Amino acid sequence: MDYELKSARFLARDVLSRAVRPGDTVVDATMGNGHDTLFLCEAVGPAGRVYAFDVQPEAVESTRVRLRENGVEDRAVLVCDGHQRMDAHVSGKIRAAVFNLGWLPGGDHTVTTLWETTREAVEKALSLLLPMGVLVICAYPGHDEGNRELRELIRFLSALSNREYNVLHQRFLNASSGAPECFVVQKMG
Ligand SMILES: C[S@@+](CC[C@H](N)C(=O)[O-])C[C@H]1O[C@@H](n2cnc3c(N)ncnc32)[C@H](O)[C@@H]1O
Repeated sequence: MDYELKSARFLARDVLSRAVRPGDTVVDATMGNGHDTLFLCEAVGPAGRVYAFDVQPEAVESTRVRLRENGVEDRAVLVCDGHQRMDAHVSGKIRAAVFNLGWLPGGDHTVTTLWETTREAVEKALSLLLPMGVLVICAYPGHDEGNRELRELIRFLSALSNREYNVLHQRFLNASSGAPECFVVQKMG
């Protein structure tokens, strides 16, 4: 089969599927409709724990239904709170955290992630990461807040110490506007 370069979302899933092991504790910082939460519940297995966050009760409910339908609801702690407060909810260190920024697909576009709280949450996720753990972020430019969030994220992640973290940024240089971009941060061992 021909090798194909794939999108930001593909890289995010690929990294998570390689980094997360059965029994791990992980964070889904933006639950939305629960696609990533389900993926993580399957990756951590029955002995693992997924802490998932969203500020919208309908996102939490839609995720709860998805997990129940797939028989993995008991692996997740679904929190209706901002990801910037993750340290108040997560116990222990985490192997991975995923952020899929922006707004809920099919939902209210005025409820979108904002750089100030995203930054706080990213800092907290980094402090919770195990050595060799990964932080995966998909950012969506193409609207005002998305553009600002992407610009500030690049500035923030570029300034992380290269003795403590490796930081990867994947983007297609000739993509149409609004195409997602992926960041992977790995804490050194
Ligand atoms: C692009 S969606 C996530 C999609 C999700 N990963 C999925 O698989 O369906 C972004 C989500 O972030 C949520 N959000 C916005 N601000 C937040 C915050 N401060 N903390 C947690 N979630 C937030 C929105 O409500 C929205 O549901």
